Amino acid sequence: MSGCVRRVLALAALGLLLAAPALAQETAKPLWSGRFDVEPDKALLAWGASFSFDRRLFEDDVNGSLAWAEALTRAGVLNPDESAAIRRGLTSILESARANPSFLAGPDEDVHSFVERVLIERIGEPGRRLHTGRSRNDQVAVDMRLYVRRRVPDIQKSLLSVIDALVAQAASAGDAVMPSYTHVRRAQPVLVAHYLLAHAWALRRDVERFEAVRVEADAMPLGAGAIAGTNYAVDTKLLAERLGFSKVVANSIDATSDRDYVSSFLHASSLAMVHLSRLAEDVVLFTGEEFGFFVLSDAVATGSSLMPQKKNPDPMELVRGKAGRTIGNLTGWLSTMKGLPSGYNKDLQEDKEALFDAEDSLMGSAGAAATVVRTLTLDRARTTRGASGFLLSTDVADYLVAKGVAFRTAHEVVGGMVRELLKQGKEFETLTPGEWRAFHPSFGDDVMTVVTAQASVRMKKTPQSTNPEAVQAQLAEISAWLRGAQAGR
Ligand code: ARG
Repeated sequence: MSGCVRRVLALAALGLLLAAPALAQETAKPLWSGRFDVEPDKALLAWGASFSFDRRLFEDDVNGSLAWAEALTRAGVLNPDESAAIRRGLTSILESARANPSFLAGPDEDVHSFVERVLIERIGEPGRRLHTGRSRNDQVAVDMRLYVRRRVPDIQKSLLSVIDALVAQAASAGDAVMPSYTHVRRAQPVLVAHYLLAHAWALRRDVERFEAVRVEADAMPLGAGAIAGTNYAVDTKLLAERLGFSKVVANSIDATSDRDYVSSFLHASSLAMVHLSRLAEDVVLFTGEEFGFFVLSDAVATGSSLMPQKKNPDPMELVRGKAGRTIGNLTGWLSTMKGLPSGYNKDLQEDKEALFDAEDSLMGSAGAAATVVRTLTLDRARTTRGASGFLLSTDVADYLVAKGVAFRTAHEVVGGMVRELLKQGKEFETLTPGEWRAFHPSFGDDVMTVVTAQASVRMKKTPQSTNPEAVQAQLAEISAWLRGAQAGR
């Protein structure tokens, strides 16, 4: 065929395709209409249809069908000609959708009905044999599992980009100190890097949790049929391999009833959103006037329509907001599942919007968080100032412990000092050696050189502490892991 002829044919095919949805509007009837005397109620059929959202499974549905057709061929259900026609038909449907995403439209009940209808329109009779030994119940299960397995790496990649931004900020913060907080009250000095890495560790667990979701989704349900299995001797092991699964679901009732991997996906998404939300809350607080530890880039801030001075952290607020919505997807889905009798029930169709919405919320939020964190500017003067004063009280007590005083006694002495100094409007930094000694004879002249934020972090001895060497080790470890994870995806 000459290139010119091929182009003309392709254009003609495209014209047909574009016209197809309008044509189909009148003619498409459900896959199961044979049993019924009257046409289904149009509004109810439309209400129960899932094609508007399950078209996202299109690729998985076609890939599942390609593999199913091969399995049927090997089982002797399809002859080589039928098999080749189905393969060509399905491949052309894939190509049509790739060339023109709006091709994925029509009055069909769901994506499975759409693919089957178009296949039959394109290749005729052999297309009517594809659904032999299969049900939409095991078909939708394989589609969802394929989808989860296919999407997890991208989700992990977007989480890695947030970790990457946190690690880069931690590396550039060097030895900068800031106050840490418990009960939102100043607690003890920590390295800024230490604080940033705390968020990175939580997100690293999310990346690993999503890996477990991928493993959970790794079981092939085809061969289960509607519920009882199938009459055709398909090689399910080979089918599993062909679709990239390492095993076959052991029980056909379980295969069609199980959506645990959806629940786990929603849980992993919710927890990741909780972590992003806590990071977002910190960014909202720490970039505000009261804390001022970081400066938000103008590029990621929003203004007010009324108050000219405002520089709002909208993207981070939206991340916080979407965490609630994602948790809603999880709890809503678990509520749907809890009352279901075994076997397929139409309620299971609700898994899709919950999963897709959680995925979108998470991908969007991770992208936003990565951009905001990457563009933060540390205000070292503000964090250093914040890391002074009574937040050094524990170090003052530890100074006395080093001189042989019992910790409980030291705690009482320093507590009394704080009470007294607050009354007098004084601080540790302004006391003379004599005044120190009036509180306890063990205070030496060196106390104010020993008790500083920089000294405080250096005094820490444990590997998980904010000691600069420990933080360097942490940074090196998570950077190495990050590089490996980024290379693997
Ligand atoms: N759209 C359906 C779903 O998402 C597909 C399975 C339909 N099966 C059935 N027996 N009605 O769950």
